[in-house]
Amino acid sequence: MNIHTYEKVWLIAALVLIVGFIATITYGSVALGITMVGDQEETIEPSELNDDERFGEPRVEQVGENEYEAYVIAQTFTFYPDPIEVPADSEVTFYVTSRDVIHSFSVAGTNINTMVIPGEVSKMTVEFDEPDEYGVVCNEYCGDFHHTMEGLLHVVP
Ligand code: CUA
Repeated sequence: MNIHTYEKVWLIAALVLIVGFIATITYGSVALGITMVGDQEETIEPSELNDDERFGEPRVEQVGENEYEAYVIAQTFTFYPDPIEVPADSEVTFYVTSRDVIHSFSVAGTNINTMVIPGEVSKMTVEFDEPDEYGVVCNEYCGDFHHTMEGLLHVVP
């Protein structure tokens, strides 16, 4: 085995490892029902959020009998709206974007956990059965007051 063959073997081994990691992350997240970065499709300019039909006024809107859409903005160090109020026995599609830096939109005690990237819209659909109250937290370090970045999600009767 000459040196070049040896290098090739290592290169291939490294590639296999990388592909394996990506497959594990993708497959693992699908199995857990967590929306990952790769699921994003839409883009939006952070500077144009104020003029956007959805994000100009962050809110929860009814779009069907038991269907709702929530337009949420994350920015240092708050979530808008806060609290987010959704009815029990509903299906809610969240659209979340950031006005500034990378945050996350993570609802404690649920599998709602997505990165929120400026310029992109994270989308996830969640069903809520019982009235409850959840804490919304940011899991991505976003600055000095990252640890204070919290919100509330109310599932109201
Ligand atoms: Cu936003 Cu940490």
